[in-house]
Amino acid sequence: MTPEKDFQRPVIKTELPGPKGREIIAADEKYVTPSYPRPDYKLVAEKGFGVWLEDTDGNVFLDCNAGVAVCSTGHCHPQIVEAITEQTQKLMHMCGTDFYYEHMPALGKKLNEICPIEGDTKTHFANSGAEAIETALKLAMYHTKRQKFISFFGSFHGRTLGALSLTSSKRAQRLGFARQALDVTHVPYAYCYRCPFNKGKCDDGTCCMGTTQWIEDRLFKTTCPPEEVAGIVVEAVQGEGGYVPAPPEVLQAIRKICDKHGIMMIVDEVQSGMGRTGKMFAIEHAGVSPDIMCLAKGIGSGLPIGATVAKAEIMSWHKGAHASTFGGNPVCIASALKTIELLENGLTDNAAEVGNYLMDGLRKLQEKHSCIGDVRGHGLMVGVEFVGENGEPHAELRDKIEMACFNRGLIILGCGESTIRWSPPLILTKENVDVALEIFDEAIAESM
Ligand SMILES: Cc1ncc(COP(=O)(O)O)c(C=O)c1O
Repeated sequence: MTPEKDFQRPVIKTELPGPKGREIIAADEKYVTPSYPRPDYKLVAEKGFGVWLEDTDGNVFLDCNAGVAVCSTGHCHPQIVEAITEQTQKLMHMCGTDFYYEHMPALGKKLNEICPIEGDTKTHFANSGAEAIETALKLAMYHTKRQKFISFFGSFHGRTLGALSLTSSKRAQRLGFARQALDVTHVPYAYCYRCPFNKGKCDDGTCCMGTTQWIEDRLFKTTCPPEEVAGIVVEAVQGEGGYVPAPPEVLQAIRKICDKHGIMMIVDEVQSGMGRTGKMFAIEHAGVSPDIMCLAKGIGSGLPIGATVAKAEIMSWHKGAHASTFGGNPVCIASALKTIELLENGLTDNAAEVGNYLMDGLRKLQEKHSCIGDVRGHGLMVGVEFVGENGEPHAELRDKIEMACFNRGLIILGCGESTIRWSPPLILTKENVDVALEIFDEAIAESM
């Protein structure tokens, strides 16, 4: 399935990073903000093709991160490159907020078809995940005429001030920014491996109801009257928080709470959407229909595009209420339409099949290495949580393993407290998985 089949394995021929890479890193340190949350290892990318990534010194890596779950169709997929190239020769920008072109309604129509929202939808286009979230927040406030939100510990929804009020996956994201811009109350997420209600791992979905009981019995009866809540914002699989899938029962119970109290159910599919979990959207694993959905990352195969899709009757705000100059740029939409076509024509199915294969392989490694506490996920959105002798999160070991993988030519990235996320391009093959698991196994053995 990979557009280029020349490589079977990574090729590391210099020290890492190599001399050219080190020069770029030095310039970056001088001229670029130090606020980016980069990992300990330093990858200086130059070229990408399929699942392979070449650095500035000619080393070739197997990419199981895809630019943080963005390059869903692999690096520089020939059909994406063709679609973008063709579009750049016709029209690159004409500000859809003030003028018209065919691309916005075409993608809006496609999203209406594929998003699991009941009835007709409308879409607002933006440039990033955070911007898609900002749109959802404003829309929910406007529609309900309410101001409060409920979000989950461990969640990540972006770093702009509104989105940051929801975000709670790491201390560093909040530190220095004083009070929340919005009135958001955080509640425990149903993280079964480390049950916030100390009920252990039940696997039957019943004890996870702690999360929704918390909302109904504590929040609604004290600080957060439901008639003042505009929206509950939830990731069907927490991404930055550690690749933690919510049990379907919890998402179904959130839907019921929202229905009962006229609250908007806002599902953030920025990381989990676009085929990654083996279904077009992760929320489909729970059979739940949201009111508003936020998309970005994988939808553009690397080009910046965000989208907020809502029930048509909810997205009925007045002219001028919300817009974005670059949002829905025709080149980005050309990429998104081609991406969705590729997802529908095999890549989502491939994510399900190869994802199961990856998960089986990781579970075998779990039997071999006691430091693997949990393997979880759907499709090609898989988390491996590393633990110490008493089951405590072992961040140091996770970071060592991440570095050992890099040195052997495998790109993976941490998330949560001590988890490694697998978020490869959805073109990954079983042969690629065999190579990746062999490296992962060696890296774990070396790091213990
Ligand atoms: C679930 C989720 N929502 C929102 C965002 C923010 O997206 P962006 O970085 O494009 O603003 C991210 C980014 O990692 C994300 O994972």
